Amino acid sequence: CGIVGYIGNKDAYTYLINGLKRLEYRGYDSAGIALHKGNDFLTIKKAGKVASLEAAFHGYDTSTSLGIGHTRWATHGIPSDNNAHPHVSATGKFVLVHNGIIENYASIKEELLQKGYKFNSDTDTEVLVNFIEDIYLNNQCPVEEAIRIALKRVVGTYVILLLSKDHSDTLFAARKGSPLVIGIGKNEHFLGSDASPMLEYTKEVVYINDYELAIITPEQLILKNLGNETVTPYIQKLDLELAAIEKGGYDHFMIKEIYEQPQAITDSLRGRLDPIELTLRLSGLEKIKDKLLQARRIIIVACGTSWHAGLLAEYWIEELARVNVEVEYASEFRYRNPIITPEDVIIAISQSGETADTLVALEKAKAQGATIFGIVNVVGSSIARITDAGIYTHAGHEIGVASTKAFITQLTVLLSFALKLAEYRNTISPELQKQLFKEMNDLPSKVESILTESKDSIKQIAEKYKNAGSFLYLGRGYNFPIALEGALKLKEISYIHAEGYPAAEMKHGPIALVDENLPVVFIATKDRVHEKIISNMQEIKARRGKLIAVVSQNDQLALGLADDSITIPETHELISPILAVIPLQLLSYYVGTGRGIDVDKPRNLAKSVTVE
Ligand code: G6P
Repeated sequence: CGIVGYIGNKDAYTYLINGLKRLEYRGYDSAGIALHKGNDFLTIKKAGKVASLEAAFHGYDTSTSLGIGHTRWATHGIPSDNNAHPHVSATGKFVLVHNGIIENYASIKEELLQKGYKFNSDTDTEVLVNFIEDIYLNNQCPVEEAIRIALKRVVGTYVILLLSKDHSDTLFAARKGSPLVIGIGKNEHFLGSDASPMLEYTKEVVYINDYELAIITPEQLILKNLGNETVTPYIQKLDLELAAIEKGGYDHFMIKEIYEQPQAITDSLRGRLDPIELTLRLSGLEKIKDKLLQARRIIIVACGTSWHAGLLAEYWIEELARVNVEVEYASEFRYRNPIITPEDVIIAISQSGETADTLVALEKAKAQGATIFGIVNVVGSSIARITDAGIYTHAGHEIGVASTKAFITQLTVLLSFALKLAEYRNTISPELQKQLFKEMNDLPSKVESILTESKDSIKQIAEKYKNAGSFLYLGRGYNFPIALEGALKLKEISYIHAEGYPAAEMKHGPIALVDENLPVVFIATKDRVHEKIISNMQEIKARRGKLIAVVSQNDQLALGLADDSITIPETHELISPILAVIPLQLLSYYVGTGRGIDVDKPRNLAKSVTVE
């Protein structure tokens, strides 16, 4: 979900509605705004995207300089007008937006029901706003005290923004586990789940920490912890430009971000890989060098696309640095009983740095004494802040829900990580190291050439297969994680069922699906298992499956077998998966758009999953 808030001297509604549009990538099944108007609230909320909310506000007097807004990714209750935020308390004293999950909401709700409270929605948020009101009325205490008492009872994660009818000059906010940024202006404050809504207004921001409560007036930001002690806000300079969050002539953010990949790779290597000397410096890694050298193993935790990057990192690190690596879904890791010791190094991979499962998995590992390391895109995000050290991927702001440039930079950084660790451990020859550094340095131009040379043929392939009911993606070795990522990308933005599989394992199940209607995408670049994957292609062809292959230039054998093929430049086999994913991103983009889908905001997904 995304939240916004404004208090100051300007028109709140303009900031809130535009801010919600910028945050829509975080969830877009319903949206709402509450405005503080003298001694009442004007609250409108709507199922659907922010545009429906904007239409619903037509004709209303929206003038005021205090308000809050929300764009929702449903957790409790279906997307509907009722379940949309903001939620107003029973007596109408308070109105609340919330991002996160109140895990013990059922028991609090039960208490409130017994006291005679009635609920209009199925949400945990409506429970929370009434809980705060109940405490406020019973204890006759200041609002901030009521919030503190309520939040001490709450189990779960939250960012809340609360307005009180009796306080037309104050906005209350608090966070635990979900992000909240406050922008500081002249006699005004801007609130957002990230800084994008406030870009044109201020460059001074404060990232609120867990268990902090903000009491905000136009002139002042007071931060307190839940123990009622005052905390000094740490003001940071924002380095995000407006152009970074606009489409810049592209039809969708996704395609813009696909085309930004050469630059993103360059940015993620800048200051790290010296292209002349062919040396690599990773200051984040130096900080934990001793721990890494003692580590019995490395555990990688991540979700979604970031998990795929982790899987490839396992292959790289084990191959190059000869350290045992395990890759875990963060959501599984946190709820099973993994064996973690202080000798373990845990790497979290996350674009947003806010994914709830990844964050909690890290907290758990940290509590057991492990060293925790972050490979994160969003600077200053929660994961970046709790790790012992880390490397930023520097992909820039990624808005399309399906991750593309963030993934490519995760891979660039993870390969750098593996190479540096190999150097520390003396497990790589200087020749191979130099060769790989050189190939990494050539990556941006090779990605560029795929983007320019293959675009049209990929578009045609997409057109040909866009009505298929299902796709199979197969790869081996370094290209197996790429098969998984290709399939994920397709299902995310085209709604076509797709499955990624190790090419040989296909014989143990998916082969039963193969007939003349099944497109099978092979990632068959020239590597140590090339002959093996050629055999797998033949097995599919023998069963009349349609072969779409991503192959190395001049690979006549593979080109001859495939019904449709996309070539990528030759490179070292360790690097080729980074190139191989590019055509798969384009393929899903053109299949998705060819089917008329809003690829930047595909149904049910959210960019940043701050609930477990
Ligand atoms: C969501 C996004 C995916 C992303 C995953 C993990 O599902 O839609 O694109 O891979 O979360 O997010 P993270 O920010 O931790 O990389």
